[in-house]
Amino acid sequence: MSNRLRWIIVVVALALGGVAATLLWMLAEPRATTILSTQASVIGGPFSLTDNKGMRVTDADYRGRPMLIFFGFTSCPDVCPLTLQKLADALALAGPLPVEPRVLMISIDPARDTPEMLDSYVRSFRDDFIGLTGTQAEIDNVVAAYRAYAKRVDMPDSAMVYTMDHSSFIYVMGADGAFITVISPDGDAAAMAQALKAALLP
Ligand code: NI
Repeated sequence: MSNRLRWIIVVVALALGGVAATLLWMLAEPRATTILSTQASVIGGPFSLTDNKGMRVTDADYRGRPMLIFFGFTSCPDVCPLTLQKLADALALAGPLPVEPRVLMISIDPARDTPEMLDSYVRSFRDDFIGLTGTQAEIDNVVAAYRAYAKRVDMPDSAMVYTMDHSSFIYVMGADGAFITVISPDGDAAAMAQALKAALLP
């Protein structure tokens, strides 16, 4: 390999790493919504998973209504249940929307989150919430496609054995599956309702 070619490869690799790092930084920033919108085409994409009824599904099965996608896990002690409850409350406050969005919680702990566990979990917040799980590879793919973050953290002194560190944004995807924006989980239900209306009303 020529020196010149070697340098080109290094420069391209750094540029790509920079894009990934920038996206991670933006997802970690609460005020990133407007910046993120300009990167819309790189967030989201096809997925193939198993739903809370044990059916194999793909992203294409959810066309026609907006999707609100949240990455989490059923044994999460705080962020996941709080966010899903706020989301249920926000949808009640925001509604009726012209086209009701579907709420999809994608498990980032597929080793523990069976379809049965997801079913009772997501429906405890609202009966039509959908839970999705899959193989570790399927979950890794969808986490990467959404530029989300999930990492196992061992807890040797706990009966839980491990927990999951994860990003907790709500991704708003259009009825065509395209990325619209992210909503922060930090606001209250009223703020979330406002953000949903801003994203989904014409
Ligand atoms: Ni959580």
